[in-house]
Amino acid sequence: MISKSTIDTVFETARVEEVIGDFVVLKRAGSNYKGLSPFSDERSPSFMVSPVKQIWKDFSSGKGGNSVAFLMEHEHFTYPEAIRYLAKKYNIEIEETEQTDEEKANTDVRESMYLVSEFAKNYFHETLLHAEEGKAIGYSYFRERGFTNETIKKFALGYSPEVWDSFSKEALGKGYKLEFLESTGLTIVKEEKLIDRFRGRVMFPIQSMSGRILGFGARILGNDKKAAKYLNSPESDIYHKSKVLYGIFQAKQAIAKQDNCYLVEGYTDVIQFNQSGIENVVASSGTALTSDQIRLINRLTKNITVLYDGDAAGLRASIRGIDLILEEGMNVKVCTFPEGEDPDSFAKKTPYEDLVLYLENNAKDFIQFKASLLMNEAKNDPIKKADLIRDMVLSISKIPDRIKREIYIQECSRIMDISEQVLLNTLAQLVQKDISETVKKGKQEQKAFEVVKNTDSIALEKVDVLYELEKKIIEILLSYGNKIEEFEDILLKSNKEGEIENITEKKEYKVYQRIYLSLQEDEVELSNPLFREIYNNLINYFHQNETFQIEQYLMHLEPKFSQEVTSLLMIEEQQALHNWEGQQIIVKLKDQSIAQYVSETILTMRWFLVDAIIEELKKSISLEPDADNSEPLSMVMDYYKLINSFSKKLGRVMSRYN
Ligand code: CTP
Ligand code: MN
Repeated sequence: MISKSTIDTVFETARVEEVIGDFVVLKRAGSNYKGLSPFSDERSPSFMVSPVKQIWKDFSSGKGGNSVAFLMEHEHFTYPEAIRYLAKKYNIEIEETEQTDEEKANTDVRESMYLVSEFAKNYFHETLLHAEEGKAIGYSYFRERGFTNETIKKFALGYSPEVWDSFSKEALGKGYKLEFLESTGLTIVKEEKLIDRFRGRVMFPIQSMSGRILGFGARILGNDKKAAKYLNSPESDIYHKSKVLYGIFQAKQAIAKQDNCYLVEGYTDVIQFNQSGIENVVASSGTALTSDQIRLINRLTKNITVLYDGDAAGLRASIRGIDLILEEGMNVKVCTFPEGEDPDSFAKKTPYEDLVLYLENNAKDFIQFKASLLMNEAKNDPIKKADLIRDMVLSISKIPDRIKREIYIQECSRIMDISEQVLLNTLAQLVQKDISETVKKGKQEQKAFEVVKNTDSIALEKVDVLYELEKKIIEILLSYGNKIEEFEDILLKSNKEGEIENITEKKEYKVYQRIYLSLQEDEVELSNPLFREIYNNLINYFHQNETFQIEQYLMHLEPKFSQEVTSLLMIEEQQALHNWEGQQIIVKLKDQSIAQYVSETILTMRWFLVDAIIEELKKSISLEPDADNSEPLSMVMDYYKLINSFSKKLGRVMSRYN
């Protein structure tokens, strides 16, 4: 683990404008910088960086955060990867916290395996480009397949010489330990002799999302039917076949930007597509697609287009993959190629524009795809048709989102010419079955049967009001949380004559305390889960840090809060961007009215929440003639009194300051 003090140093040293400047062209705009969003294709800049607050905001996608959040979004680094990247950029030495001996040994082992693999990649690549045998055999093979020098470099393609142990010898000579040559599978030890696993093959290094070398795929050169065409690295501590996607390192940015990922089978499909200019493509490398692989893509986009060979095996493979993709809550399309073509061969002979057009015109959603595939057989055979329909509904039942399920049911009903009701009944049965199976498995996570939360009790427009109010609370905490303000407590007391009287007390509070105490008084929690989390997080931060500094808080801002928090903090920048300032649309809060603003917001929110309770109670009042409604009725009365007091207080707050 990276030590806390290293992380602090990294945050204190890194300048968000410098970090982002390595990826995005930034221009000065007043006290900020602006540029074109790296997350979408846009012509006018809506990407802002604030050197003062040390945060960035992409107004076209809503993303935002500190420098680490940028690296996580743009480079798809994990948190530690981003910290390490920044440490390297700013020459900060990384201090690791104490690890147990076992942990240390494990990281050391994996680290060493990565180093050996990196060395191997370079060795094979150099051999391909510069050694006689490599040039004559490997390099010319790739050139024959139509790969340019640029492509060969981009994918670090290589060649392993047709010699028993040339790689092993070279690696040992360079000081790499046999232990790691063996555990990565690069070297095989047989009767005390060293044998290179890969000999006389062209090499495809397999990289992780952040670019580390995990293993290799290696192809024989000829068409020897007896030898396996591809030989791959064995499973190891760093290479898990089912968890990697070939090409993801080169594709990740294009996938996020295009908001779609093409999924192919082979190494050469990925490479040929890249060379054609389509970069958002990855390969499952001939194995059946796994959930882990799909989740890798899910970090980048919700949309997958499966591209498979036009042969029967290819089609079967794609059908299996579809349900898995749907289960992950992603959208899936399928595009097939003409008989005898795979994505590689098709892309090789098709100009870029035609290729793009082909993909656009032939990508079908999974319902259409299944229909077109099986319809011919099933058309005149009622039993087969029924099977096909059941098969489609089974796929639909995998979709976690209820609304999406309904839409696909409609689509299926239209295509198959069968009533929606029948399909919905079948769906309900399947979903029910799924539930009982899931329950049996003891799974906690809700899947196909996600219950839509019952919100009918509160009218939708009111929910939005609540959302705005809760957002305001967070905004106030961020902007004024630590300010000391004088608040008026208006107490309602009955005097000797039993009349209700207003007694006003003035008292100083920090704004965050006032908010915290008021919400606690009503035992009210923010209803929006994300706001609730930010709220708790902020309040904790205030409690622990006497002198709250927004800059400090932003440094350690958790990535999951980035989007909302930056939205609230960059409102002015957004307005500046649209040049609203000139039109005087910004109404800035004057400092003397903070207390009023806070009181008003809290009161309105309490009012709103109590109102919701009243509505709820009213529903429980029975309309039967002889029903006893005394309890709910008296509660409703009590709550009305409370609302009444709110409105009095609110009236006072308003009139006092207005
Ligand atoms: N594959 C494998 N081992 C094999 C055959 C195939 O690991 N013996 C994997 C490889 O990742 C390969 C993918 O399955 O890229 C698809 O196989 P195939 O379509 O046969 O290969 P292509 O990628 O089309 O290879 P080429 O065009 O070089 O023949
Ligand atoms: Mn091929």
